[in-house]
Amino acid sequence: MRKTADLVARGERLLTPNYAPAPVIFDRGEGAYLIDLEGKRYLDFTAGIAVCALGHAHPKLAEAIADQARQMLHISNLYFSAPEIELAERLTALSFADRVFFANSGAEANEAALKIARRYQQVVKGTTRHQFICAERSFHGRTWAAISATGQPKYHEGFGPLVPGFVHVPYNDAAAIEAAINEETCAVFLEPLQGEGGLIEPEPGYLKAVRDLCDAHGLLLIFDEIQTGLGRTGPLFAYEHEGVTPDIMTLAKGLGGGVPIGAMLCTDAVAEGFKPGVHASTFGGNPLACRAGVEVLKVLEAEAILDNVQRVGAYLKAALLKGVGQVPGVIGARGRGLLQGWVVEAGIDRAAVRREALSRGLLLTQAGADTLRLSPPLNIGVSHVDEALEILSAAITAVYEEANHVQA
Ligand SMILES: Cc1ncc(COP(=O)(O)O)c(C=O)c1O
Repeated sequence: MRKTADLVARGERLLTPNYAPAPVIFDRGEGAYLIDLEGKRYLDFTAGIAVCALGHAHPKLAEAIADQARQMLHISNLYFSAPEIELAERLTALSFADRVFFANSGAEANEAALKIARRYQQVVKGTTRHQFICAERSFHGRTWAAISATGQPKYHEGFGPLVPGFVHVPYNDAAAIEAAINEETCAVFLEPLQGEGGLIEPEPGYLKAVRDLCDAHGLLLIFDEIQTGLGRTGPLFAYEHEGVTPDIMTLAKGLGGGVPIGAMLCTDAVAEGFKPGVHASTFGGNPLACRAGVEVLKVLEAEAILDNVQRVGAYLKAALLKGVGQVPGVIGARGRGLLQGWVVEAGIDRAAVRREALSRGLLLTQAGADTLRLSPPLNIGVSHVDEALEILSAAITAVYEEANHVQA
């Protein structure tokens, strides 16, 4: 306990105060569990916020990373590397895309997407198109352009003026996009399921209608699959649910299984927007990160993990629906695959639920204004779902009873 308290106190003193970490120090992970310095085990339904697709300390991923570290960590983008090429080959074979730009995070991948879209419209097409139509309640990261694209005012506070050229319309409203299009519109930029916004699913036909509008008006369609990609919602990419392909897609989170990496994927036509020198990243395409990405894709296939997401995701959906109206304060269930959660009424203090769940050995996050989000490793079993929902139900009940002065 002393060691934990000491580390927490030092962390609170030394790190900039833009986070509010829980007073716990994790020491190691094993599959779906994290273990703290005192040896207490926690079922991890956060997975590093939808990052640790293979869980913690997957032996194949650990070995690939160690092997690459022994061989070569970094060479810069002045040279190709085999892991970078292999990862690009796999990603393009598995998606609509022909080409890949590697970055180090989601926000950076989005920066690349926005930059290549403007270059395509302005340099390749010779227009002045520069405006992006984005969605309200979207989340695209924390760089300046990414917060400007993000449709949630709380992420803008104190950062003005924002980058110009972004307009926001309600999600799931193709008519609003149509009304916002003008001669200066460059692209439509959407998440194919809004993660941070509260697990908001696209209504049937919405993404197809947006694709048709983009085609009719000469706009690019950009999908941010940073949270939904790599099998998180079932198929490898969430756009597959709708059978609608974008011109540009961004990935990060699950791609490296925990090693930082981002990627911007696009068609050959869009890639003409870049030429040597116009965009770059020192670490982008780093052999270590790309080797991790290759291994994640190999393990997803070898261990049939996408089938597991379908199966366990369906089980989770049924279990969440069963809890609606039964667990106090739970009024709905949202999401797909292993990115789902309970919607709770306004009186439920979600931060208190998370604290209570932590003390009972479960980690989870919240999303949007009303959602408790579950984003476990993609290779969990149904017994993990049972364990998580039992703890979560008890935690919500405890918080509800405390708030309503109910005698337990
Ligand atoms: C949809 C989406 N886009 C972008 C980001 C930003 O990614 P990063 O934090 O790696 O910059 C996130 C992170 O939560 C996200 O969910």
